[in-house]
Amino acid sequence: MKIVVSYINSKYNKYETIRRINNCRNADGIHIDLMDGYYVFNSNFTIMDLLEDFIGINKPIDVHMMIEKPSNYLPFIFNLNPVGIYIHPFTESDPISILNLINNRGIDAGIVINPDEDISSFVQFFPVVKRVLLMSVRPGAGGQEFLMSTINKLVELKKYQSIYNFLIYVDGGIDDTTIKYIQGADGAVSGSFVCLSDDYERQIDKLKAK
Ligand code: DX5
Ligand code: ZN
Repeated sequence: MKIVVSYINSKYNKYETIRRINNCRNADGIHIDLMDGYYVFNSNFTIMDLLEDFIGINKPIDVHMMIEKPSNYLPFIFNLNPVGIYIHPFTESDPISILNLINNRGIDAGIVINPDEDISSFVQFFPVVKRVLLMSVRPGAGGQEFLMSTINKLVELKKYQSIYNFLIYVDGGIDDTTIKYIQGADGAVSGSFVCLSDDYERQIDKLKAK
């Protein structure tokens, strides 16, 4: 299973955290969590700084936009050359066009499904998306506890995956215990478990060993 690392909850400052993830042989990518203070309570709205933050970073980047109207910011995000961009589709009036716009740039278009949302209400997007980010915590903060209801949701999502063609990543509360519950996923986003330690490689090895 791929492990991508979210840097919002770390022992080190943003720059040092990004640098450490980038230097990790076993990290499969860096996950950028963008929060606008509207779609979610917290805000770290530093889109203008992002390009600078990621100078010299060569790990694949994916962007999780916890933002109202993410389409307003896509031109900035495209400049980062991410491999994937996830939007919460109901923040847009015409999400399918936005997802197509992302795919047409050669970037994987992704949607996010929150813990309190039904998988069945996202079926319309499955033919278009290349990735689905299944939230295992409520979006808005790092360091929350993994929600066990994710296990059944993953089973349900896997049924759709066998019909359509998308990758499944699970995001939130992933550590060396909870990773066992999501073995059917293609990847996981882990933040605190990796970044609150001082040995990122060892923490990621623990996740990959399970
Ligand atoms: C939650 C974010 C997650 C999260 C991951 O709003 O989308 O990416 O911060 O961090 P941990 O592993 O601390 O839950
Ligand atoms: Zn995230």
